[in-house]
Parts: sequence; C-alpha cells; structure tokens
Amino acid sequence: MCGIVAYVGPKKASEILLKGIKTLEYRGYDSVGIATLAGNIISVKKDIGKVDEANATLNFLALEGNIGIAHTRWSTHGGVTKENAHPHLDCSGKIAVVHNGIVDNHQQIRAGLGSHRFLSQTDTEVIPHLIEELMSKEGLDFVAAVRKAANTLNGRSAFVAISSETRQMAAARKGTPLIIGLHETSNEEFFIASDVTAFLDYTNKVMYLDDNEMAVVDVKIDGKIAFSSLTSGNELKKRVVDIHWHVGSTEKEGYDHFLIKEVMEQKHTIAAAINQDDTKILAVANDIKSAFGTFFVGCGTAGKTCMVAEYLFSKIARKHINSVVASEFSNYKHYLTPKTLMIAVSQSGETADVLEAIDVAKSKSVRVVSLLNVFGSTMMRASDDFFMVNAGAERAVVSTKATTAQIAVLTLLAYATAGKLQEGKLLLMNAASAVNDMLNPRYEEHISKLAFLLLNKKDIFIIGRGINYPIALEAAIKLQETCYTHAQGFAAGELKHGPLALIDEGTPCIAIVANDETKQDMINNATEVKARGGYIIGIAPENNEVFDYWLKVPDVGDASPIVNIIPVQILAYHIAVMRGYNPDYPRNLAKSVTVK
Ligand code: M6R
Repeated sequence: MCGIVAYVGPKKASEILLKGIKTLEYRGYDSVGIATLAGNIISVKKDIGKVDEANATLNFLALEGNIGIAHTRWSTHGGVTKENAHPHLDCSGKIAVVHNGIVDNHQQIRAGLGSHRFLSQTDTEVIPHLIEELMSKEGLDFVAAVRKAANTLNGRSAFVAISSETRQMAAARKGTPLIIGLHETSNEEFFIASDVTAFLDYTNKVMYLDDNEMAVVDVKIDGKIAFSSLTSGNELKKRVVDIHWHVGSTEKEGYDHFLIKEVMEQKHTIAAAINQDDTKILAVANDIKSAFGTFFVGCGTAGKTCMVAEYLFSKIARKHINSVVASEFSNYKHYLTPKTLMIAVSQSGETADVLEAIDVAKSKSVRVVSLLNVFGSTMMRASDDFFMVNAGAERAVVSTKATTAQIAVLTLLAYATAGKLQEGKLLLMNAASAVNDMLNPRYEEHISKLAFLLLNKKDIFIIGRGINYPIALEAAIKLQETCYTHAQGFAAGELKHGPLALIDEGTPCIAIVANDETKQDMINNATEVKARGGYIIGIAPENNEVFDYWLKVPDVGDASPIVNIIPVQILAYHIAVMRGYNPDYPRNLAKSVTVK
C-alpha cells in the first residue's frame, strides 16, 4: 500500500507529481504529500485526506523546483494525521523521504537515534534520520548513507530520498515495487514510481529496480542515473524495456464513481479476457495435467476466483487442483516439489502475501504461472510465465471487472485442460455477449430498488453451491467493503449446521440459483430460510415462488459465476451510495496490499 512518485527533469516537478500521485491514489488515501527541491531548499506540503481535498487547501502547484517526491499513504504505523503524512525530513530539513512498506525494526533504529528530533509516530521517519546520522557520524556521503540505511531496514519496503546538499535522488527497493521511467530521447528526465501508470502519460521506456538494488539520479552530472546492488555496492547494468500496454481509461468518463464505470465495462472485458494465445493456454493446461499437484493462490477476491477454479477444474476437467489463500500457502510447503505447479492470481500483481507465497514456491523449485491485470508488476517478473486478463486499469478498490476477467481465463484453462478449448471459448463468448445485454439502465434500476429495500439491514446472508459457492463468498466481500454491512456467504448446505439460527423475520438472504445440478438443493435451502422468516433474493435465470425479489441473470451454463456476481456488484454500489459512502474508497482499505 502507499504510492510513491518521484521526478527529476526540466519540467515543474509539482505538476508531474500531483498528476502521478492522483493516479496512485488507489494504493492508499489516508494522506498525501509532496516535497520539492528548489535551489538548495526542500519545501514540503502534506495533509490528511485524498489528493484533491489536500490540494484544495495546500495548492501543491505552488511548490517550485524540478526535483521532487510525492506520496499517498495507507497508514500502518501511526494514525491518520498530518504529522504522519509523508514526506518525512531529517533534523536539518536537508533530506526528505517517501516510503512504501514497513520497517519492522523501526523501534530499535529509533532507539539508536536518541539525539534526533522525531515529529511523527511512523516507522518511515527513522529513514531520513538514519541517513543524516550516517552522514554526520560516519562521514558517509549521501549515496553511501542511503545504501547503509537501506541495508539496516528489516521488512518489505522501498523508499526514495532526496538531498538538498548534493541535489541527488536515491531510490532503494527491498520488497515493494519501484519502477524507473526514462525520457524517450533525453538523458535528463527521470520518473520513479510504485506503478508505471503514474508516468505512462510521459514515457513508456522503463527500467525495473529489483529487490536489494538502488538507483541514484545525480543532477550535477546531467541527470545521470546509476544502478547498484544494495548489498555489494557493485554497479549494475539495467535493460530499458518498452511498455506497450493499453491501460485503458483511468478517468471516470461521465460516471459518478469508478466502481460503477468498471462494473459497466464488463460489457467488453469478458471478451477481452478470453482473447488469449491458444498455444499458451494449451501449454499451461498441459502443465496442469502433468503437474504433481497444482495450487491456485490469491488473496481476497482473487482468492475466491481461485476457489471457483477448484470447482471448475473438478466439474469440467475432472482434475483435482487446490485453491489456497496466499497468506496460508507457506503452511503447504511440505507438499511442494519441483513437480508442483503454482497459478498465482492477482489483479495488481503486487500483493505482498502472494509475493511471499511465490517466494515459498520458488524456494522449492515450483513453476509459477500468474494471472495478472497490471503489466510490469512485481509478480509478472517473479513468475515463469503469465497471462494478462486484459480488464484495463481497475481504479476502484473494490474489484469487479478484474474478477470476472480472472474467472473467464480460469474457465478457459479448465476447458483447455479437459481438451475442450474451443467449447470453452464458445461458452465464454456467449457469456460475454449475455453480460453485454444484461448491463442496461433498466437492470441497474431494478437492482437499485432492491438496494433501497435493504438500506437499513444490518446483516445480509448469501448462499450458493458448487461453482457458485465461492461467488456467495465473493458477494459477501463486495457488500462488506462498499456498504460496511455484515454480509456473510455460506455453502447453502451448511446453513442448517449452525448459521440458520441467525435468520429471523426479514433477514435478507441472497440465494444464487444456477441452472445446474445444484438447482433443486438451492431452492430447498432457500425455502428453509424463508420458513424461518428470511427474505429471499434469488439470483437465477428463472423466477421461483420462493423468491421475494428476483434478480434475473442469463443462463450461461458453466460460465454462471461470471454473470452471478454482477448483480451483487451493482447492489453493493447502490447501497453504498444511498448510505452516503464513497464506494471507490472504502474505509481502512487500499487496492494494492503490499504489506503482510
Ligand atoms: O491485487 P490483488 O488481486 O492481489 O488483490 C487481492 C485483494 O486484496 C483484493 O481482491 C481485495 O480483496 C479487493 N478489495 C476485493 O474487492
């Protein structure tokens, strides 16, 4: 979490940084700050709130200078206060730092910096002070002090520091991403960011900083950039990569919120997701067939799409695969051998728990294939192979179009593993066109009426079976993160083993009733809930007398998980808006969860 942008070049830094940090706001939106260097003075403006809110009072563009760093924060250490916002300075005000990640040993470091004056409760603030200490007490130059400071930090993180004395910028990476953008032709303009989207408007030439590496931009020698190993200090040669990635629009394009815009984009994204290279799909299907154990690994919503895959592979390919929540994956390490396959699923490609799971897999020589939506992400580069799910930039923290795109690619893989790739494609093309028809204003209006009925409900239960059981769990996540409602998904058959006791008069229960072998059991379970006073909302291709409210979905066979989650995405959006919440920025969350 947290987004970093840095700039060195001929342009006014604050303009570039403000635009870049707005793009990275999805990584955290507790507070925002920019520091620029003009002459030999570092000026800092920072405050709590989102970029636009802080900018309205601070006017970031008043910051002069051609060198600067910016940050958008998701708090880990220290509350949401102006003091805790980045950038942080050393005692002299000559070193400024922005940081993403956690300094696990910040308390020990702080204890060793007794004479320094700290202004915040953050772990980050130890970094500028440690650099200052190393320069003054050990006589190190700025770059050597940054290197030594970075090597002192424990935990996954990355930071960028500027020095007003030396007019240098140094970036160090130890577990969270930093990507360098270079001007197309000149050697005098550099961007550094947590995610390429922060500077893709200016350049698509990038260099990737890897873990335990640092980059130094030296303004005194014509913006030269130099890379070195953090550990050995040896100089490194880096390859320049051209990114040809169509991110899609990152604007709201007339919609009130990114969330509803991205829901509506599913008219096209399912078709884009299945536009894959057949050879690659078949090759990975073969890997799955020959693997001695395949693990599908993800977090949150991506974890639920992995669960969908587990059911799909059983149903379609008669193949046992395991879905595991990434944060639990290391507990399976005893099963891993070089014959194991890992399929890592992640929208951002930066989720710390998934990256750690990949590290565990790699330590056992496991082959890793990723399903991603962000090109150039850390996971893409850590994997042996990858698929892009082609959903385009997903800006709302709440995942929607990336989710259905992931399910589409996983369905395609299941069909390919069953030797029925073409059949799978036809099924998904039909689903893509059904989604296109389904997402119309009348449909949204019908769901918004239900949102009104559920406005004051404190609990919502969702039940499903088979390939739609994970969709019940995913539906609960959608309602939790947008409307802050207690929503819980269950395997419908489990209700009478306990949760049925929670149902009383008027308790809403969403029953996902696919037109498959689970249908009759689902209707029976919904009837049991209704008999206890439950209010049944049926998501199904056909109406049924047990439903108090029917959300019609097209009958798309085994692609039903794709169409069944969409009405809940819309419902969650409308309840959130009616309750006065901003559905793009759920409280306490961030889109890229780069801490464990
Ligand atoms: O970027 P990732 O797909 O790895 O993110 C995983 C989860 O953090 C993410 O799906 C989260 O659960 C979403 N907010 C759900 O909408």
